[in-house]
Amino acid sequence: MTAPDSLTDPESLRTRALDALTTARDRTALLTSCVEDPELTAQHSPLMSPLVWDLAHIGNQEELWLLREVAGREAMRPEIDGLYDAFEHPRAARPSLPLLPPAEARQYAAEVRGRALDVLESAAFQGTRLTEAGFAFGMIAQHEQQHDETMLITHQLRKGPAALTAPDPAPAPLFTGPAEVLVPEGPFVMGTSTEPWALDNERPAHRRMVPAFFIDTTPVTNAAYQAFIEDGGYGDRRWWTPEGWDHIRAHDIEAPLFWRREGGQWLRRRFGVTEVVPPDEPVLHVCWYEADAYARWAGRRLPTEEEWEKAARHDPAADRSTRYPWGDADPTPEHANLGQRHLRPAPAGSYPAGASPLGVRQLIGDVWEWTSSDLLPYPGFVAFPYREYSEVFFGPEYKVLRGGSFAVDPVACRGTFRNWDYPIRRQIFSGFRTARDAALGGS
Ligand code: AVJ
Ligand code: FE
Repeated sequence: MTAPDSLTDPESLRTRALDALTTARDRTALLTSCVEDPELTAQHSPLMSPLVWDLAHIGNQEELWLLREVAGREAMRPEIDGLYDAFEHPRAARPSLPLLPPAEARQYAAEVRGRALDVLESAAFQGTRLTEAGFAFGMIAQHEQQHDETMLITHQLRKGPAALTAPDPAPAPLFTGPAEVLVPEGPFVMGTSTEPWALDNERPAHRRMVPAFFIDTTPVTNAAYQAFIEDGGYGDRRWWTPEGWDHIRAHDIEAPLFWRREGGQWLRRRFGVTEVVPPDEPVLHVCWYEADAYARWAGRRLPTEEEWEKAARHDPAADRSTRYPWGDADPTPEHANLGQRHLRPAPAGSYPAGASPLGVRQLIGDVWEWTSSDLLPYPGFVAFPYREYSEVFFGPEYKVLRGGSFAVDPVACRGTFRNWDYPIRRQIFSGFRTARDAALGGS
């Protein structure tokens, strides 16, 4: 990998860490100040924590890793650790815990941050795996941004008038390029051993053989997904796995989450506003079962995780894997729809500057893309720095999502980044693209 200098020089990494932590805290402050305090302690959905839990949990993880582990400090408030341990209390139970009230949670997170910035100023960016290249600081900035996406999901689930607004992405001319591209057979390097802030499940880099396949040039749009609905897709057992069929029947699922049909057209609720479903935008808020069924209806399938990453990272001319589809440069607003700049995906075919060498668009940003793969460790995986980040989730229960959504900050998004969730989940900012085998005479 040819990394920008800023990814190897300790002083550049220190500045990068300071910027990433500051950007994350600005976003956290916005997400927790745009509603009144009673809304911070309310449970907007049993799927989510109260926003005030995320806020203090962000501070508690930062205290744990940057102040106690890196700097060797004593616990500031040992009595609260249990409240903010995600494994001790399921989300639905968190509103009834004796959580810090909003003002105290803000104060605690701010105090931790003040001390963490002092630690950052003088920490050696080498010596231990935790401090090498500022990993712990990068991990904590990513952790906060992951919760900022979680909090944005809570805002989307919240009833009532909009609390957040953002400009729309630029309108894009209707995409007229090829619908799919061929990714020829061959090995590529999956995962990374050099990206300084890559998390444990993205490591190590290893070669994978990938048979030839075709992959959609853009994510599946609302218009395409509506064709599946209009064709009776939700009522036709042929397209669904047995588990998927049972799930949609048991829960009366007939369209993506937040959609409703009225007067012959589809409407959706998006951050407190009801609007006509925009046909050219990537479909959002579908579960894995819906993505899988759509693909079968279309005579296609979901890409595997390795197919997705090869499409996103393999540069055929140089025969190497890059950090992003467009190369090794950090994302800019010209490359991808990231960072909650917009509160929706951009039209399919947007961001030509972010395309892969083969011309695949919007792999990064816009919508998380379901893959057909279960979350499994790479060969040589080592849990670091804690088993509960990835390892306890490995197995067939979780499906991998790739690429990041409009709600993900660049610090928590790259070609190797792996997300996962249960196949029934659709409150997340999830969409998909489809693929097919390219083998001649393939089954
Ligand atoms: C990687 C997004 C599945 O939100 O459950 C946050 C990230 N881990 N705090 C999650 C995470 C610990 C995680 N995901
Ligand atoms: Fe967390």
